[in-house]
Amino acid sequence: MAKEGFLAEGRLGGDLTGWFDVHSLLDMRKLFLTALAVVTPFFAADLASTPPMGWNSWNKFADKVDDKTIREIADAMVSSGMKDAGYVYVNIDDTWEGDRDAQGNIQPNAKFPDMKALADYVHSKGLKIGIYSSPGPKTCAGFEGSYQHEAQDAKTWAAWGIDYLKYDWCSADKVYQPSEMQAVYKKMRDALKTTGRPIVFSLCQYGWQDVWTWGASVGGNLWRTTGDIQDNWKSMSIIGFDKQTGHEQYAGPGHWNDPDMLEIGNGGMSRTEYTVHLSLWAMLAAPLLAGNDVRSMSDETRDILTNKEVIAIDQDPLGQQGRRVSKDGATEVWVKPLANGDLAVALFNRSDQMADVTAYWPVLGIDGKHKVRDLWRHASAGTVRDGYSADVPQHGVVMLRIAR
Ligand code: GLA
Repeated sequence: MAKEGFLAEGRLGGDLTGWFDVHSLLDMRKLFLTALAVVTPFFAADLASTPPMGWNSWNKFADKVDDKTIREIADAMVSSGMKDAGYVYVNIDDTWEGDRDAQGNIQPNAKFPDMKALADYVHSKGLKIGIYSSPGPKTCAGFEGSYQHEAQDAKTWAAWGIDYLKYDWCSADKVYQPSEMQAVYKKMRDALKTTGRPIVFSLCQYGWQDVWTWGASVGGNLWRTTGDIQDNWKSMSIIGFDKQTGHEQYAGPGHWNDPDMLEIGNGGMSRTEYTVHLSLWAMLAAPLLAGNDVRSMSDETRDILTNKEVIAIDQDPLGQQGRRVSKDGATEVWVKPLANGDLAVALFNRSDQMADVTAYWPVLGIDGKHKVRDLWRHASAGTVRDGYSADVPQHGVVMLRIAR
């Protein structure tokens, strides 16, 4: 429960991981983006100007994905309100690939009789469609990759009407040296560019070689920062809380750190834990790719995934990735500056019991009285001086928007 009018008692509890000066951070970010624009010939800020949102088949369906499922998912994205909430990409992950024809053109396998017709169907719903491949000879699931067919595959996908490519390293290790990785990704970036079709380029190589430092320069609109997420609290929280630190400066409009797809609604976490999952991904300005069966999701799952106030934090046009500003045992306070000067603030409790968590204004770089809104209660949390304190349930979050 929120304690309004909280007064700091003169002692800032816990290990403050750094005083946070929003303005110098914004200046640093401007400098970084200017430098990046100079060194990056293909700086795709027009594509993915906010973190991509949509759905991907892998987490729920793995190899059990086919044309019928994708059509039904597209229907459900519209009828469930997911599309209205901003989820537009319907992405087919691994296992769609068939053999190449005599001219070397990639064919879908029997599960996908006509990719062009499928893309047309998805587009007819006002959605976009994504696909998956590997720079290696085989994908992670052992299907045909794009090795030595890069330009040809890009052309094929563009002709089908594909809007998004996830390009997964997998067997590329067998044919390339690690030192060639950037050139290999650039090669596909160039192939996609040559098609003339705007195609979001998603790098998937598990965060190797500090990809966040060069992902944008090879044309990546997003890049995975870790290995695969699993549908449990430990996996989600380690990836989200512990593995993203230090990457903040590399994210911005057109190029995002990707802590992997959402597991919300897949059954391995509690409602409260899934609430943390969406809140944390929003604070991280992460791509939001739902990974559940949206055809049959519960109201509870839909309400989490479509919380427009939390999504607005993720999609804020400033594109500043949030960061932890204080930590006290298993509780953490995170902040994300927003385009209109407001701050998104999340009070996280990673412990196994209820905890009192406080965001002290000086730690957020503000002072005086501020209007606070609770983004999960969809209600005002009052006008508060000095700091905001709340009881946060175990494995839970209180997420706030603080007006400036
Ligand atoms: C890798 C990726 C996953 C998924 C599978 C498909 O493990 O990291 O996200 O695409 O391959 O085989």
